[in-house]
Amino acid sequence: MPATIVVGLQWGDEGKGKTTDFLAEQTDFVVRYQGGDNAGHTVMLGDEVFKLHLVPSGILYPHIVPVIGPGVVVNPATLIDELDALAARGIDTSRLRASFACHLILPYHRALDVARETRLAGAKVGTTGRGIGPAYEDRAARTGLRLEDLLDARILRMKLDRVLPEKNAVLAALGAEARFEPEPLVEQALAWGRRLAPHLVDVTWLVQDALARGDHVLLEGAQGTLLDLDHGSYPFVTSSSPIAGGACTGGGIGPRQVDEVFGVMKAYATRVGSGPFPTELADDVGLGIAERGREVGTTTGRARRVGWFDAVSARYAVAVNSVSSIMLNKLDILSGVDPIRLCTAYQVDGRRVDAWPSSADLLARATPVYEDFAGWSEPIHAVRSLADLPDAARRYVTALEEYAGAPIVLVSVGPERTQTIERAWRPVRNRVPTVAG
Ligand code: GDP
Ligand code: IMO
Ligand code: MG
Repeated sequence: MPATIVVGLQWGDEGKGKTTDFLAEQTDFVVRYQGGDNAGHTVMLGDEVFKLHLVPSGILYPHIVPVIGPGVVVNPATLIDELDALAARGIDTSRLRASFACHLILPYHRALDVARETRLAGAKVGTTGRGIGPAYEDRAARTGLRLEDLLDARILRMKLDRVLPEKNAVLAALGAEARFEPEPLVEQALAWGRRLAPHLVDVTWLVQDALARGDHVLLEGAQGTLLDLDHGSYPFVTSSSPIAGGACTGGGIGPRQVDEVFGVMKAYATRVGSGPFPTELADDVGLGIAERGREVGTTTGRARRVGWFDAVSARYAVAVNSVSSIMLNKLDILSGVDPIRLCTAYQVDGRRVDAWPSSADLLARATPVYEDFAGWSEPIHAVRSLADLPDAARRYVTALEEYAGAPIVLVSVGPERTQTIERAWRPVRNRVPTVAG
């Protein structure tokens, strides 16, 4: 049984949590493959709302094994807090598995993240302040600590003795007050290790054995394509690979084990943090969308910037992820918006540009070329078939599909699982296995 990847096609917060939730019934494993507690995925279970940061959305379903893959950076303190909070709400967290190889976010990573942003001032990335960048930097520099290190006092001491003088020197140079000593951190880390030990496994074999058995594995991305370290609007990006390719490096699978890449996008665009956003709205229409769509950051509580749907970036995201199917979320939020504008190309320095530029500088100079669509006024939360959507909504969905270049198979008209229009949808249970089983 092959694997499915769920990937964000915009700047994050596309509703990946809702999409994973919709697919959960048919899934045995949900594997997070990158990012850390910078993510905020909202899932509704009945009337209850769960906001998950590090724990994969699959935790809410007793039949699913939720897995934190080796590509994820883990802050043990926030992971334990999240597990405790879920347990307090009656969720069984004992099935959670996390890779020995996950890199750790330690207190000095957060301190460095905040110190750098403070120093960058007007040029800051607008990070979540969770230490994501500094932790991935240490991974690449080969000076990081991993979850497996929490189980060994000798290794902890050795690595922290080596790394902390440099961290303290950098913090001092950045004008930050925080300093870190090895011993209290070793004690703290050993306590985290004792608590997390039952969850730690070799994720690569866990996932490979599952696929070989014929279990269905869903790989859940965090953030979105336009925040990808290599393919996003650098430097206003996160420090990992949210794109589908990241599911292989961060989830422990190979490209031939994937048979479906679900791209998730909203019917409009949002962005949190700094960086260019060509279709950004600074008027009452944008405010109305933000209000109805409750566009407030799940992790930091910051207001999300809102804009029109950008087909230039969507086409790019569909290509770079080899998207096979799209789930379109939050169509209901556009009820009452008229006209609805769709960005089909940019004007940059007087030239028409159809391809998403890799330079953030160029993107910042891009002016959108819009095609306008008639809106619809009625609420659509209760619609369950495409035929019952207002004509104008159907025309807009068709245009999004044509511009994006991949089939929209699911359309979401509300946050709950049942508020979903199933269109040309190919359920996992009906698939013919092609690889690995
Ligand atoms: P994620 O980070 O991609 O998982 O997305 P977030 O959870 O941060 O943000 C998406 C928000 O939109 C959540 O509050 C969801 O409950 C909500 N949501 C998802 N799909 C829909 C939809 O179709 N309609 C409405 N009204 N809300 C939705
Ligand atoms: P989910 O998974 C939206 C943004 C931050 C900032 C940039 C870098 O819920 O879609 P970082 O802390 O990662 O170094 O910040 O990335 N960002 C997100 N924006 N949704 C997210 O996650 C995000 N995770 C990070 O706002 O601009
Ligand atoms: Mg989110």
